[in-house]
This record gives sequence, C-alpha cells and structure tokens, in this order.
Amino acid sequence: MPTNVQIVDDVIDRTLRSLIGWPGANGSSLRAVGGLVAETCGDGDHVEIGSLFGASALVAYRTKVELKRNGNIYCIDPMVFDDHEYCVRIDGNESQKLLLKNQHQIFFDNTRTCGGIKLIRERSNPWPLPKDQRFATAFIDGWHYGDGPLNDAKTLVEIVDRAILLDDVIPSYPDVYRAFLYLCSHPNWFLQDKLDRCALFVRRTGAIQIFTAEGVKHTHADERED
Ligand SMILES: C[S@@+](CC[C@H](N)C(=O)[O-])C[C@H]1O[C@@H](n2cnc3c(N)ncnc32)[C@H](O)[C@@H]1O
Repeated sequence: MPTNVQIVDDVIDRTLRSLIGWPGANGSSLRAVGGLVAETCGDGDHVEIGSLFGASALVAYRTKVELKRNGNIYCIDPMVFDDHEYCVRIDGNESQKLLLKNQHQIFFDNTRTCGGIKLIRERSNPWPLPKDQRFATAFIDGWHYGDGPLNDAKTLVEIVDRAILLDDVIPSYPDVYRAFLYLCSHPNWFLQDKLDRCALFVRRTGAIQIFTAEGVKHTHADERED
C-alpha cells in the first residue's frame, strides 16, 4: 500500500512527463500542493489562484483521483499575456513567450481529460465566484505584486475551511511576504509548516489554551458564524 507521499511523487512524475509548457517555480511547490490535497482537502473542493499551464491543478486533481476523494479543482487565472511575471514575459526567450501567448489553449489541452478541473478565466480581485461558495483548501500563486497576494489572502481566509498554501515566500517577492505576515497574525489561522518556498496555514478550530506568564487563557479561535 503506497503512502500519500509516494502517491503524490508518482502523480508529480506523471504530470511533469506529459505537461506542455512548464510548471511554476520549476515544479518545486508541487509536492506541497499534492500534500495539501492528500492530507487536508478530504472530499471538499480545492481552489487555486494562478494556474499557468495547469501543473499545480493537475497535481491537485490527480492526487484526489488516486485517493478516491470527491471534489473539484477551481482555477482562477485570467490567462492574459500582460499579467505574467516580468521574468518570463520580458526576460524569457521567444519560445517561452510563444507558449505564454497561447496559455489558455495549452492549459485546455493539458487538462482536457480532467472533468473535475474548472477554469474561471478571471483575475482574483474582485473575487469572480459567489462569496458563499466555500472551499476545503486553497493555493495562492497568482499576481505576486502590489496588493495582489494580500488581497488573495484576505479573500481566502473568509471562504476556506481547512488550509491555505501560500507560494513564493522568498526574498524576491516582498509583497508575498506581506500576505505571509497577514496570515501569520490572523486570529483564525495558524502557520503549520514552511516547506521550502511554500507556507501552509491551517484554520484554527475549537477552543484553544494559551499559556502566558499570568496563567492559562482559553479562547475560541474561530469567530466565523455559519
Ligand atoms: C507562477 S504562475 C502559476 C503557476 C502554477 N500554479 C503552477 O504551479 O504551474 C502565476 C499565474 O498567475 C496568473 N495571474 C496573474 N495575475 C493574476 C490575477 N490577478 N488573478 C489570478 N491569476 C493571475 C498568471 O496568468 C499565471 O498563470
């Protein structure tokens, strides 16, 4: 019986061997995405902001299929050339630019047999899905500049029930770091892991004991009413 780690590794291997285009960050976040879905998503839906050619969505989807879990993968991405990162849009070679200009077609071809992957071809702000549509897990990997990452974090803390994975917490992306600090200080969320460039936050549930110099305090972390 393979472990979840072995299943995710196999899914990543299959995905990278057949992917047209390339995975974000050379695929270094895919293990964290697979782990997020395998360990936390259960039967719920997963949403990602920023899909590029579909690598992270495919890993999330195939991990769910392998583990026989229900739920869809929602992908929020405008798939517009000018919304790509400077490093590839300007500094990339001609072939990379050609692929980026055809991002939507390539995403479609990479994911065409995966009925559970739903593309919403919009920017993440304003949020393009109904505000009451909830998700078990989320992956933030969209627009990395200005208030983009912070807005994504602010949106997702309201509609995600279990875990949020934030990509690219590295020195080159100070605006992603602002979103990281926001999530770290949010009363309902807890930094569970920092895996390479990914930070995994889980929703706090139930009453928590807080140890202080004065004694133990009890608090209900999750103030959300539903
Ligand atoms: C780093 S790539 C995503 C990589 C992908 N998650 C993977 O693992 O292969 C960033 C993506 O964010 C998308 N993007 C840019 N601005 C966005 C926005 N405002 N909302 C959602 N996605 C956006 C870009 O089109 C691009 O496809």
